[in-house]
Amino acid sequence: MTVDVGQSGFTTPIHDATSSVSSEVLQHNKRQTWDVPSHFEMTHFHKPSTSQNISQRHLMKNSHRLPQSYTRFSPARGMSMKHFPCALYQRLTQTGLSHRAYTTGSFTVKDTLIDWRGKLEAAQVPEADLAVEHIMSHILGVPQELEKLTSVVLSKEILTEVDRLMTCRLARMPLQYILGEWDFHSVTLKMRPPVFIPRPETEQLVELALECLQGIHTPRVLEIGCGSGAISLSLLHSINNLQCVALDQSKHAIELTKLNASNIGVNDRLLLVEGKVTSEMMPCLPRVHFHLIVSNPPYVLRKDLLNVQPEIKIYEDMRALDGGKDGLDVIKAILIHSHRLLLDKHSVILEVDPCHRYLIPVWLEKQPSLKVKFTEVFKDFNGKDRFIKFVKS
Ligand SMILES: C[S@@+](CC[C@H](N)C(=O)[O-])C[C@H]1O[C@@H](n2cnc3c(N)ncnc32)[C@H](O)[C@@H]1O
Repeated sequence: MTVDVGQSGFTTPIHDATSSVSSEVLQHNKRQTWDVPSHFEMTHFHKPSTSQNISQRHLMKNSHRLPQSYTRFSPARGMSMKHFPCALYQRLTQTGLSHRAYTTGSFTVKDTLIDWRGKLEAAQVPEADLAVEHIMSHILGVPQELEKLTSVVLSKEILTEVDRLMTCRLARMPLQYILGEWDFHSVTLKMRPPVFIPRPETEQLVELALECLQGIHTPRVLEIGCGSGAISLSLLHSINNLQCVALDQSKHAIELTKLNASNIGVNDRLLLVEGKVTSEMMPCLPRVHFHLIVSNPPYVLRKDLLNVQPEIKIYEDMRALDGGKDGLDVIKAILIHSHRLLLDKHSVILEVDPCHRYLIPVWLEKQPSLKVKFTEVFKDFNGKDRFIKFVKS
């Protein structure tokens, strides 16, 4: 996790069954030379009815793939949870930002991409290209094939949905929440605000954890601060006989990890505990004596929290980031309890702030009763000292 943080649905309903899809695309599809999802192929090209019916059918059929977060999240800006997207949309419509003249009926995929890329860039939303492509692919249900559909004309219903999701991005909602799911390591996870979005460098933490577990027959792992379940679920998915206890103080995180575990099919090897770890207290765990304790804890120094991007400040739970004055509040608590929870000669591996490789040894020297020794520092892909391994002697 660092603070410098910066797929779907319904097919493109044809606006007019005969004229909206370019003949080039239609011919191409008849020759079956490119793969499209079956729902796209059947309804878009082979079973044309009225555009209205197709649009509505697809909206309903794929509504499960739209981010559930829209109706669940309260951005705490005077909008109720229920009205969040609507209120936001209205607010932006009033500013003219999302106005579109639908009456021409001639917006193609390409027009829409250009239009929204321009709006996002004008509003200085980072990585506008990435957002428009991901959102459009998500809505059309064609993650790999977008460039082949640039001349397809979009119906009013699809354009409305495009506007709705792009408007969320304009309001700096992270793409992962807008799309409702995201790939991490070897798994695909549902994403819902305000649960922390796993960052790419944490995939390296998973790799380091897998190395620590090599050669252990039935490894038992404790994860502290599981968030969406990214680390625990990747480990469970990678090692068949691994058993895991995952703990988090946030009930939203626990609920999301449970959902993700069941989607991935590893829930029978995962025990979830909702509770807060402090230096004085560890929630009651269903088992003790682990082969590995792993955590990407809140480690951001309080002073650095002032500079986080709107995506984080507005949408993510800041308690997932806030490590206290020196970023060590939860890290110290984990090390204190590791002494009791770890099997001898086994490891704790943590994601940390680069300054922690200097601060933690100084603190550990003042804790002679702790049998946990600082052993190794690992860099992330940006060359920063990001992961520390400790071994219980
Ligand atoms: C940085 S997030 C990491 C989430 C996930 N492991 C990942 O890498 O995507 C830290 C998580 O720790 C949880 N957390 C923060 N303080 C905690 C505490 N004292 N006890 C238990 N969980 C805590 C937060 O709710 C959050 O889900």
